[in-house]
Amino acid sequence: MAFDYETLRRDISWDIAKKQLGYKDGDTINLAYVCVDRNVEQGRGEKLALVHENHEGEIRNYTYHDLQLLTNGWADFLGKQGIAPGDRVCIFLDRLPELYIGFMGVLKSGAVVQPLFSAFGEESVFQRADDSRAVAVITQHKHLGKIRKIRDRLPDLKHVIVVDHDDAKKRLREAEGEVGFDMDAHRIPEFPIFKTYAESPSVLHYTSGTTGKPKGALHVHSSIFAQLLTSKLVLDLKDDDIYWCNADPGWVTGTSYGIIGPWALGVTQVVVDAGFSSDRWYETMEKHKVTVWYTAPTAIRMLMKDGIEPVKRRDLSSLRHMCSVGEPLNPEGVHWGREAFGLDYHDTFWQTETGSIMITNLPGMPVKPGSMGRPFPALTAAVVDPITGERITEVGRVGMIAIQPPWPSMMRAYWNNTATYLKKFLNGWYICGDRASVDADGYFWFSGRDDDVINTGGHLVGPFEIESALLEHEAVAESAAIGKPDPVNMEVVKVFVALKPGFTASDDLDLSIMNFIRKRLSPLAMPQEIEFVDKLPKTRSGKIMRRLLKAKELGQEIGDTSTLDDD
Ligand code: PRX
Repeated sequence: MAFDYETLRRDISWDIAKKQLGYKDGDTINLAYVCVDRNVEQGRGEKLALVHENHEGEIRNYTYHDLQLLTNGWADFLGKQGIAPGDRVCIFLDRLPELYIGFMGVLKSGAVVQPLFSAFGEESVFQRADDSRAVAVITQHKHLGKIRKIRDRLPDLKHVIVVDHDDAKKRLREAEGEVGFDMDAHRIPEFPIFKTYAESPSVLHYTSGTTGKPKGALHVHSSIFAQLLTSKLVLDLKDDDIYWCNADPGWVTGTSYGIIGPWALGVTQVVVDAGFSSDRWYETMEKHKVTVWYTAPTAIRMLMKDGIEPVKRRDLSSLRHMCSVGEPLNPEGVHWGREAFGLDYHDTFWQTETGSIMITNLPGMPVKPGSMGRPFPALTAAVVDPITGERITEVGRVGMIAIQPPWPSMMRAYWNNTATYLKKFLNGWYICGDRASVDADGYFWFSGRDDDVINTGGHLVGPFEIESALLEHEAVAESAAIGKPDPVNMEVVKVFVALKPGFTASDDLDLSIMNFIRKRLSPLAMPQEIEFVDKLPKTRSGKIMRRLLKAKELGQEIGDTSTLDDD
């Protein structure tokens, strides 16, 4: 049957997900129950929930029944530590099984789970745990040193739970609340799951903005209606699928679609805790017979660099659906996907704040390479005028991407930051902060972000975070960070640095600045290029004009500079 978007618009609503879960308004709903226990109750107890492969290629399998026992164990342990419903619990782990299962355990206990990239340096962790006033962090020995460094600046942090503790190897500082927890040894058959409701807080994900510290987008348990329905209709997940999501759960893709959505549908997920290697990726898909794959444009471009031949050497006949998220998916990527896999990459557009896919190429919908697709049919999305918030109906005219609230997985707040949250709304729309146009067929075409945030390999990096961190470098007087276009990562970080008197530019100084950021913030935020300047262009009120630096970098017209300092 031909694809008919209008019929989907008419027939699809969030009620489908509510009905599937037997949910009625006012019922309790805990998303960990939906993702774990409900699957056991529905006869999937012996089905594999998680196929985990570590860096060395060792595999650990967990069934839904294992998940039930282990998440009970986690929730029971957290409660006994004195962690209360509503408390924020950070997870600061590599992609270990404990991350995925612990995530659900925290939610079962009623606490709020706050995922953090394990690649974060101590300052990035500090900012996020300080802002949320987290009471606990779940981590591993490898990352414990970073926590210890910031511990005395985090008075609310009472518990540091170490999942790979081994008394023989290292001592924990018990007096400081460090405690070992061996997940696999805590299997509890019954646990009274905390009674959360549709609006109870569930996941707190931090995201970077142009100014100020990272903001915590707070989600609620009923987000699952959106994650379930989009996993079903966009990722096309069915009961017998083997699904692989490349994203780390430090990023919203890695939680909404790397934990919640697929488990809500009782699907088997593959997780590989290893860095990028095209051959390893194809081997993973072949070995586990992956059927549905969710990836990102930077990864696609990295695969493209290694050519088609490594794909053709593998039997990837199980693969039937591929999606992408995080950055504009260039038409070349789609064409290459067709050639390599005989399938279309289906682009999906959304954000930490939206919690689930907003604009997308649905299965069966003709893909126009370079377009993000159309609004998910249960939603109304448009491009609107940035000043008035009026919908732009003119074909091809660029405006701001806007979504009509509410929808189940929309953030309910920026943690402790109502003013910034309210600024996200205009004329009854939620404004994403990205620009796009819509063509005559209703397809959205991304044209750019509307702020200075740097998108490197699909990860947002706030220029302000880099600039503030650099103020603590002994040689830096001031700096400005911009995103410089990059053929693989879309953008990389470039910083312009004005040095303090007595310091001179050198290769060693370059390296020292790069390492400083890598260690304090993260490898993603590390500048790939440093340019030393005498002074930075500023507005009369003293704001650094990053856009001017970027325009110069791109060789573009500089435009009106009347607000610049003129001396
Ligand atoms: O600028 C858009 C870009 O990534 C931003 C959201 O980043 P984050 O909150 O980290 O969540 C990313 C994963 C959901 C958006 O505001 N972005 C995301 N998807 C696309 C995209 N840009 C172009 N095309 C996309 N498909």
